[in-house]
Amino acid sequence: MPTIKKIGVLTSGGDTPGMNAAIRAIVKAGNHYGIEIVGIQKGFFGLIHDKMQSLDSRAVYNIIHRGGTILKSARCEEFKTKKGRETANKVVKKNSIDALILIGGDGTLTGGKLFGREFDVPVIGLPGTIDNDLYGTDYTIGYDTAVNTVVTAVDKIRDTAHSHDRLFIVEVMGRDAGFIALRSGIATGAEKILIPEAKTFKEDLLESLKKGIAEDETSGIIIVAEGDDTGGAREVEKIVRDRYPDYDIRVSILGHIQRGGAPSAYDRVLASGLGYQAVKGLTEGKRDVMVGSINRQIVFTPLDKTIKYNSPINVELHSIAEILGL
Ligand code: F6P
Repeated sequence: MPTIKKIGVLTSGGDTPGMNAAIRAIVKAGNHYGIEIVGIQKGFFGLIHDKMQSLDSRAVYNIIHRGGTILKSARCEEFKTKKGRETANKVVKKNSIDALILIGGDGTLTGGKLFGREFDVPVIGLPGTIDNDLYGTDYTIGYDTAVNTVVTAVDKIRDTAHSHDRLFIVEVMGRDAGFIALRSGIATGAEKILIPEAKTFKEDLLESLKKGIAEDETSGIIIVAEGDDTGGAREVEKIVRDRYPDYDIRVSILGHIQRGGAPSAYDRVLASGLGYQAVKGLTEGKRDVMVGSINRQIVFTPLDKTIKYNSPINVELHSIAEILGL
């Protein structure tokens, strides 16, 4: 087993609250194990273009509570090409980097898997996406904070919805997954939650609203995951407006506020633990895996599986939400 003397760390894809806490933990764990940690700026772009940043304890001082990522992040098309990855490998060799820790979602882990295998570089992934759609961990870093951000926003929307007897259709992030929508929808008592994992038919949606109208509900909240089959909040608005022209409807697309802000305590603790375990795992010869937490146990899942398998949403919880929302 080759000795690891230097680890490169990068954040890639959509940023998440808690990425800084993970970077801090990686640097501190590196100090503990006598391993140098170097930061790579702007994800895979920085790996290709040799954007290195030395990371010592001073560099990660005062960042555990900050949203975003001090290393910056990007989505990088160049890394999807063999040529891009070959250039990145030259940069890795030039900087004497022995292993990589990649913090990001599906795209990041896919790139990491390819790169690690092509050039025989040990790679460990950390689940960093607000969408929570990675197999191999109960929670991804940033998900809890994003849900809390949505809950705070929807509580405020509910106040004004009630005052004006309005129906609000709130769109939350989740390109392919409904985790944010389901959890925040239950927490805010949403009347209806639309997620890609549970097909909602136009008639079901309208039927639910009909019940609300019959029971004299004058205001309400529908939470829609952006990746839902209906096509998002604007489409839902059209469907409802068509059938119930008297409803006073407003649409609120929460957007990128969900990706910013100080990480919750849960995300800070999760990111700290996973960051430490990634470094420890590399010292023990682990590679080609993602470190996650399942039932409060640290689990290393092959990158192949984290990418290929879907993280199952709790469909039963969605059925319960349907009952509780009406
Ligand atoms: O990082 C995940 C995510 O926030 C998705 O929920 C969303 O669809 C996407 O990123 C938005 O990406 P961008 O910031 O590149 O528009």
